[in-house]
Amino acid sequence: PKCWAVVPAAGVGKRMQADRPKQYLPLAGKTVIEHTLSRLLASGAFQKVAVAISVEDPYWPELEISKHPDVITAPGGKERADSVLSALKALQGKACEDDWVLVHDAARPCLTASDIQLQIDTLQNDAVGGILALSSHDTLKHVDGDTITATIDRKHVWRALTPQMFKYGMLRDALQQTEGNPAVTDEASALEIMGYQPKIVEGRPENIKITRPEDLALAQFYMEQQA
Ligand code: C5P
Repeated sequence: PKCWAVVPAAGVGKRMQADRPKQYLPLAGKTVIEHTLSRLLASGAFQKVAVAISVEDPYWPELEISKHPDVITAPGGKERADSVLSALKALQGKACEDDWVLVHDAARPCLTASDIQLQIDTLQNDAVGGILALSSHDTLKHVDGDTITATIDRKHVWRALTPQMFKYGMLRDALQQTEGNPAVTDEASALEIMGYQPKIVEGRPENIKITRPEDLALAQFYMEQQA
């Protein structure tokens, strides 16, 4: 089976308090999304990269990479899951039901080629697929208001990163059937609701999601280290 990349990039990024969506903020000489897409394209792992972009987005058409022959643009949706579904539909007729799709946040520019390769190598013979994830170094508390109600066993808790790698047909069906369900906050949760058991593959901690202003400086630091 072949591999395809899907990049949801239609969010507004309110938590950044910036004048533009976070994927268009400058980072090490380019915008965040240019780093993300360049890394996916340079990995050589994907047939095409389908990017979900808000229909009112004035920044995307200005970027050279929006015209790259291996980049397909799809209209973004209300929620992240709607954007992913829209990008999957843009691959219809190209991707086969059993092909792999790796869904990766536009806002995670520090993804490495080695993590992409590790994920594909680990999961390619799996029946369902799975996600990059990180264990927690901190002790984790279950809290009600401001009161601790339990200490959670760390070995059973992982932080979900992207890429999230699933079969094209299975992911499309799961997202369609869970449409509007607020419990679907990533692709894996849609598959879980459908009764599947996705795997985790341990990812690298520098694969951060740009969320708050200070994350840009951290991403720049990681990029300098990787260079
Ligand atoms: O806001 P958050 O950091 O969770 O967004 C994760 C990714 O999903 C971002 O790359 C964002 O652009 C994307 N997204 C989207 N469509 C939405 C909401 C978020 O493509 N409606």
